[in-house]
Amino acid sequence: MKEKILEILRKTDGFVSGQKLCNEFQVSRTAVWKAVHQLQEEGYCIDAVRNKGYCLKKSDDLFTEAQFRKCLKTSWAGRDVCFLPQVDSTNNEIRKMAENGAPDGTVVIADMQTAGKGRRGSVFQSPRGCGIWMSLLLRPDIEPFAASMLTLVMGMAVRRAIAVLTSLNPKIKWPNDIVIDGKKLCGILTEMSMEMDRINYIVIGVGVNVQNEAFPDQLKDKAVSVRMAGGNVSRSELAAQILLEFEQYYDRFLQNRDLSALMEEYNRELINCGREVFVHSLKGDWKGTAEGINAEGSLIVRTDTGRQTVNSGEVSVRGIYGYV
Ligand code: BTN
Repeated sequence: MKEKILEILRKTDGFVSGQKLCNEFQVSRTAVWKAVHQLQEEGYCIDAVRNKGYCLKKSDDLFTEAQFRKCLKTSWAGRDVCFLPQVDSTNNEIRKMAENGAPDGTVVIADMQTAGKGRRGSVFQSPRGCGIWMSLLLRPDIEPFAASMLTLVMGMAVRRAIAVLTSLNPKIKWPNDIVIDGKKLCGILTEMSMEMDRINYIVIGVGVNVQNEAFPDQLKDKAVSVRMAGGNVSRSELAAQILLEFEQYYDRFLQNRDLSALMEEYNRELINCGREVFVHSLKGDWKGTAEGINAEGSLIVRTDTGRQTVNSGEVSVRGIYGYV
């Protein structure tokens, strides 16, 4: 019945009444509701509205585990995947799985987050059906200080995945936002669990705005989606491509356990390069011209009094005219 309901919803523009479905299949309203609920759990975006019925959001962007697996070409990243219709935060969820022994390369993807986390304790808006809200678990044999470099590695992977699958040319805003037309397309939050001087595991959380058609007032000047920027790609394809790109950049990172093999490309794609930046640090605010990153992923900023090395954990950087 579930498949047949899906077929009817697919063929119908607008709403199909619950009663019509009950009559069609000679079942109760509860049975229809349960079938619709299962479809929602599988990732179909179906609106359920009292007195109107059910309506399938028509889109070729089917973000289900089956579809994602069809697109996945990695050798290890995302081979263990957990797809959730809704979760507080994929970073929180994967941390629980890591504590229970989930292997390196495990991925959690949610269609919606109710408490998506951004950097510095901010909230990350993660509405249903719009984006890739995904966390990757790593158990690398690296020094804890190198963990923050992985955020930059993931930034490169997201940027390249979008460039490969669309005609867009996104840039990186140091350390880890992906931007287009001066607006943010993706944010990355890396979290780590360690003991003494040893890493237990690292979680890299990626939030990419893909299908959003608009943003709330407080975000509309700062945020953009792949679709709004003119790109057309399904979330399954893009999520799988991000993981494929990540595997390749990560191999190069592991050669020296730093960014020496990647910094040239990173700097080429860095929107801040050669631009004035404001550095907001605990010791106060100052400005200078960004010159690029070093092999540890710190930003080199030239000032009147010489060069400063800016560490991503300590500061945030803004362009002098706004977000970039
Ligand atoms: C930022 O730009 O401040 C970082 C945003 C990171 C958002 C992603 S969405 C998937 C993962 N789960 C979270 O709760 N946060 C990250």
